[in-house]
Amino acid sequence: MATDLSLQMLKVVEHAAIACAHTMGQGDRHGSDRVAVEAMRNTLDTIPIDGTIVIGEGERDEAPMLFIGERVGQGAAGVRDLPEVDIAVDPLEGTNLCALGEPNAIAVLAAASKGGLLHAPDLYMEKLVVGPRAKHAVSLDRPVKDNLKSIAKALDRDVDDLVIMVLDRPRHEKLIADIRAAGARIRLIGDGDLSAGIAAAVDGSGVHAVMGTGGAPEGVLTAAAMRCLGGEIYARLVVAKPEDEARCRKMGITDFRRIYSASDLASGKNITFAATGVTDGTLMKGVRFFGHGTRTSSIVMQNDPHQIRFIDTIHVTERGDDLRIRF
Ligand code: FBP
Repeated sequence: MATDLSLQMLKVVEHAAIACAHTMGQGDRHGSDRVAVEAMRNTLDTIPIDGTIVIGEGERDEAPMLFIGERVGQGAAGVRDLPEVDIAVDPLEGTNLCALGEPNAIAVLAAASKGGLLHAPDLYMEKLVVGPRAKHAVSLDRPVKDNLKSIAKALDRDVDDLVIMVLDRPRHEKLIADIRAAGARIRLIGDGDLSAGIAAAVDGSGVHAVMGTGGAPEGVLTAAAMRCLGGEIYARLVVAKPEDEARCRKMGITDFRRIYSASDLASGKNITFAATGVTDGTLMKGVRFFGHGTRTSSIVMQNDPHQIRFIDTIHVTERGDDLRIRF
């Protein structure tokens, strides 16, 4: 059986979330991101893995830590015979959301055995994310209204009962008009199409699909989550300029029009996905500080063994007679 890294990875995202949650609402997105990166990096180094960052904070010359290709984990400090693991990180997904105290900022990572996560350049990616019941009913190349009809049918409801999450961007003007014309409901979000994608794959979240163009790194992380939740992401890189082509080639991508599914983007047999809420969100509450402790809400999933855990942790920082734990 594969090494079970889930609780180790939980610790990594919890620490990143706690670090940046202290900065919530301070209006400093870079500062929020920096403390999340530092906390994630420091905690990763305590973990018994020989890890390599494949999706991270950018190239080595633009990111001091968690850059693509960086070795992390105890293996980086010379400990031998540890499992080799590829890691995709987004220490703070939704930097603006945290800086403004808005919902759905998360700290997130995915891990897979070596080669199990696509090395995607930091370009845009067209995405269509749906839950398990609609995954065989849609296609990135079909008109929006046809996909909406198919999603509605798969979910046994009418198109006007659907809620579609879309990043609120000028580039989505036509997409939004098409969704509105088809009669579906829309939740426009300022940032965070990754946490939106996770919600779309969970029944009862009130989200039925995510449509539109967002970051490719977030697409790979979404794919890892879909491998655990049984949902699907269909995605295509937006390769607009010759420099984009060069960046793709550098990462071994030559078919620029390819439509990827979750198992192309996160092909690993052993996927671990962990996310902790920074601010309150659809599936996870944000970090709560209460004087003598901190409470976090996380989702930790694996596909082998296949399990999905919603974990509520109270991190007691000061012991004393007055410790009160509330359900
Ligand atoms: P950050 O966490 O880096 O701020 O990214 C948030 C995000 O909204 C992603 O969820 C999304 O995929 C991407 O940015 C969209 O990019 P852009 O803001 O350029 O439209």
